[in-house]
Amino acid sequence: MKLAQTMIVQIDCLCHVYMNERLCPPMVKERVSGSSRIRDPHLWAFLAIVVIIIYLSVAVFLRWINVSFRVEQYLFSHWMSWIGALYLAVVTPVAYVLRRRYPRRLQLFRSVHMYGNLLAFMLTSIHFYQQIGRSPQAYPRLGTGVAQYTMVLTLVLTGFIQRFRLFQRLDVNISSRSRAFAGYLRTLHVSSIIAFYFVIVLHILHGLRIT
Ligand code: HEM
Ligand code: HEM
Repeated sequence: MKLAQTMIVQIDCLCHVYMNERLCPPMVKERVSGSSRIRDPHLWAFLAIVVIIIYLSVAVFLRWINVSFRVEQYLFSHWMSWIGALYLAVVTPVAYVLRRRYPRRLQLFRSVHMYGNLLAFMLTSIHFYQQIGRSPQAYPRLGTGVAQYTMVLTLVLTGFIQRFRLFQRLDVNISSRSRAFAGYLRTLHVSSIIAFYFVIVLHILHGLRIT
């Protein structure tokens, strides 16, 4: 019985990870095809957080909100970038291992993945817009930070399309084209975090004026 339950959970994982509904047992398939995107509370929560991030970004860029005060010896906006980047760098590999070790907790991990990463994105956005909104006299030399932000943005966009399966209708079986597209998205998603690791090292060296 326990073995059967474990197998169902593992097949469930495969369905979600590889978007291959042919691998789903009937009960999982029913849940996949019966769900409606518009009734998914996570979709609305995602969009609400994105609206907050856009508001904060505009407010920081236009200096309606001041994030350039010091906490200890560093600017508040730099603390935001440290926390956000550290979260992405550390939690991503840890979550990768935990998901495989505890497949029954897949839903929990997916929620932590989406909300945690969105909050990290919010923190890095505050730092990014504080930097690109600096006065012309103190304008930074743009480079690694812009590349860094492009990667995080790509992660959020590709994550969003994957999570809510925007490339397929939910009430029909997935076509081979959609499955191939899901594979490309996943590759782009995962490779963006790998590129992130390379660039963050250069960016920190640049921030510390070492490069
Ligand atoms: C996803 C994470 C991050 C993003 C998107 C980001 C973005 C940016 C951007 C766009 C700039 C303007 C200069 C440039 O383009 O290189 C910048 C500058 C800076 N960042 Fe970041 N950053 C991130 C993480 C960090 C971290 C972890 C640190 C901690 C050391 C940091 C420290 C700095 C410093 C000190 C500057 C000022 C550099 C100067 O005045 O020339 N950033 N960041
Ligand atoms: C911004 C930072 C993010 C990073 C660093 C990141 C990283 C990753 C990694 C490494 C994987 C492969 C995980 C595995 O195979 O166990 C993955 C998968 C995935 N991510 Fe992200 N991600 C981010 C943001 C997001 C967001 C915001 C969403 C949703 C809106 C999302 C949705 C997904 C989905 C749907 C998968 C496929 C596996 C699954 O079913 O959960 N990601 N992500």
